[in-house]
Amino acid sequence: MKDTGIKIAVYGQGKMGLPLAQVIAQYYKVIGVDINKNLTENLNKGINPINDEPMLTELLEKNLKSKNYEATTDFEYAAQNSNIHIILVPTLIKENKPDLGLVKDVAKKIKEGLKRGDIIITECTMPPGSTEMLIPVLEESGLKYIADFGLAHCPERTMTGTAIRDITGQYPKIIGASDERTLKIVKEIYEKINNKGVIVMSSIVAAEMVKVFEGCYRDVNIALANELSYVCEKYKVNSEEIFNAANSQPYCHIHKPGYVGGHCIPYYPWFVIDENTELMRTARKVNENVIDRLIMKVIEGLNECNVAIKDSNILILGLTFRGDVYEFAHTPAKPFIEKLKKFNLNIYAYDPLCKEEDYKRFEVEEFKDDFKNIDCVVILTDHKEFYKIDWSKAGREMRNKVIVDIRGIVDESKAKLSVLKL
Ligand SMILES: NC(=O)c1ccc[n+]([C@@H]2O[C@H](COP(=O)([O-])OP(=O)(O)OC[C@H]3O[C@@H](n4cnc5c(N)ncnc54)[C@H](O)[C@@H]3O)[C@@H](O)[C@H]2O)c1
Repeated sequence: MKDTGIKIAVYGQGKMGLPLAQVIAQYYKVIGVDINKNLTENLNKGINPINDEPMLTELLEKNLKSKNYEATTDFEYAAQNSNIHIILVPTLIKENKPDLGLVKDVAKKIKEGLKRGDIIITECTMPPGSTEMLIPVLEESGLKYIADFGLAHCPERTMTGTAIRDITGQYPKIIGASDERTLKIVKEIYEKINNKGVIVMSSIVAAEMVKVFEGCYRDVNIALANELSYVCEKYKVNSEEIFNAANSQPYCHIHKPGYVGGHCIPYYPWFVIDENTELMRTARKVNENVIDRLIMKVIEGLNECNVAIKDSNILILGLTFRGDVYEFAHTPAKPFIEKLKKFNLNIYAYDPLCKEEDYKRFEVEEFKDDFKNIDCVVILTDHKEFYKIDWSKAGREMRNKVIVDIRGIVDESKAKLSVLKL
């Protein structure tokens, strides 16, 4: 490999930082930095903790072998031995307000090894204006912004389970940089790893907004789909049929109704919501209220079978927030179970990715493949395994046949069952 002089440290070796580091390490020397010692030790042995990320294990092994990647908890070593510093640690929301404590913490550590010519890139989703809030922290090094070091925001546009695919070329990379030199270098790096190229924004703030707006767009549109599906319910018509027909016209893109989970979309609107952004605030509320609609569906379904919810046994299929990904961030299962518990009923759950401790944490009993005492099944996650269930057989076995499916898993005609949807 030609020595470009570029050495990159990626701070945060989690679900996003680790795949990014592995992709970059095919072209440049990379140091993966994390506060978790156990994690960095395992990574140096080639043990990949993220099993549901295709190609990640192979890339990690390849990059360790070529000595292009090493992991460490030693921030000073990483900062001193790299000139491009990519921050990819969680940006959190506390009481609906952004908490950038972790990002600032990393910036303080980078400052200790900052050198003339270095570039700091934030990849984690940032509220508009917050990457530049790192300038005073970095200037404590004695170096001057732009004259001595550059800054850029290049937001991660991916999700767990498809990270490598997305980083290498599903969508163009967004870049907002402090100055021409920084832009040139950052562009060179991302053009190398991403075959869809880059979109250069006029400023760092503009780049921050792109990622936040993507999340706001999804959130508001899912809220609209939720409201429209409520209207369909009122008129007793199938929302899917209406949405599909409406979307055959190019100006209409009605989304799928449902609960908004994960650590991105339910949080990022709060980065920009204020007293003048009523639509986004309402959308958040509408999307959270889906849980109440689900509870009502369970109650109504059971009522039709003359079963009171308090006397019922309910089976929840899916505890993770997304199909085939072991991740619980803002999962619908949490508020749904909390609300169901108020009725003092028996809650069983099954999730092909969950371990004993997960069932314990959710305080539900693990379902053991016996539908005989189940009155109601609620499908919350679209795990592939759920499509393989013989729903017609399961329905025949169930004590009462109430099925609430918010993921479109059960084929009603095949299963000869009536299914409640959103
Ligand atoms: N997960 C996603 O699907 C996704 C998608 C798009 C964007 N993002 C963005 O990426 C960010 C990171 O998400 P993730 O999924 O990788 O999180 P994660 O929880 O999987 O990993 C975070 C990692 O950062 C480490 N860490 C925490 N504090 C640190 C510190 N001070 N210094 C160094 N390391 C530290 C943790 O030990 C952990 O390994 C998110 O907050 C979000 O802004 C995530």
